[in-house]
Amino acid sequence: MSVTKQLFSRHCEDPKRTKQSSILIQQFSGLLRNKVPRNDKQRLLQNKVPCNDGVIKESGLVRVIIILLLMSPLISFAAIGPASIRLERVPVNLHDIASIKRGAKLFATQCMVCHTAKYLRHNKLAQQAGVLYSKMPIGERKWVYATPPPDLTLIASVRGPRWLYTYLHSFYQDPKSPTGSNNLLMPNTSMPNILQGMQGTQELVNGLYEQASKPLLVKPHWYDRLKLVKSGTMTPEQFNQATIDLVDFLDYASDPHKLQRYHLGYWVLGFLIILAILLFFVYKEFWRDVNTKSHKDITG
Ligand code: HEC
Repeated sequence: MSVTKQLFSRHCEDPKRTKQSSILIQQFSGLLRNKVPRNDKQRLLQNKVPCNDGVIKESGLVRVIIILLLMSPLISFAAIGPASIRLERVPVNLHDIASIKRGAKLFATQCMVCHTAKYLRHNKLAQQAGVLYSKMPIGERKWVYATPPPDLTLIASVRGPRWLYTYLHSFYQDPKSPTGSNNLLMPNTSMPNILQGMQGTQELVNGLYEQASKPLLVKPHWYDRLKLVKSGTMTPEQFNQATIDLVDFLDYASDPHKLQRYHLGYWVLGFLIILAILLFFVYKEFWRDVNTKSHKDITG
């Protein structure tokens, strides 16, 4: 007897298991509407497939395929694991120079202990806020962490502001990690939770998200998985603002000339519109002679 036959002949003999799988199929039948012919589906749902060998093989295979299809979101969810969280929206604003400066100041005091932003070496705005090349830890240190802290000048282009904002929020206490903390977005990160003093202490809460009975396919927010157990020096609103400032600065750092480019863009578009209007008149002028000539030719 083939494996499928064995599997499904047992399956048929065990009324409890048959019932369970038919409930599972019923729960997800909404997803199936277009995938299984109506009659087959009804037979499957009502579990009226006779248990003789030939039909078992057919219906068994259909069931395997259906169950695998139904389980695929769960399997992918399990493979990604609890680390998979939603990237939060962040209102980055390159026009907000005050926020960029605040972010640069935070970067200079909090992040430049470890990270560099080497490629911002001659940037006036950053230097005004204290991001000085001479203070960056360049090549002078041996890092104890598994991964040395990367240069952050271009990180906003690589990861995107939403990733950075979510990353900075999703640190939590983890006694098993060498640094004492871990991160939902970057599991086993070597970066210690240096924002803990400001943000407070967060802990992983297993099951909090599941208890809220959210649909499985929607990724949880970081705050669905983490709980603030001890508050820091900042209120959550202040901390949000501080991280927005940091992301604003990192976004600016990754492309300090973006704003200039935007402004230049308006000029370029204006020029193209004026050029198009002028060319239109040139075109009219050019064809006027031809049109009147050919008109005269026709009329004699
Ligand atoms: C004590 C040293 C230290 C400090 C201070 C620190 N970091 Fe880190 N950071 C690290 C290390 C080490 C890594 C590498 C983590 C890894 O790849 O596992 C890292 C990684 C990162 C990454 C992820 C880079 C990537 O791989 O995409 C970002 C973003 C980041 N840090 C931002 C910051 C910001 C913003 C601050 C300041 C608020 C900061 N870090 C302060 C050590 C530090």
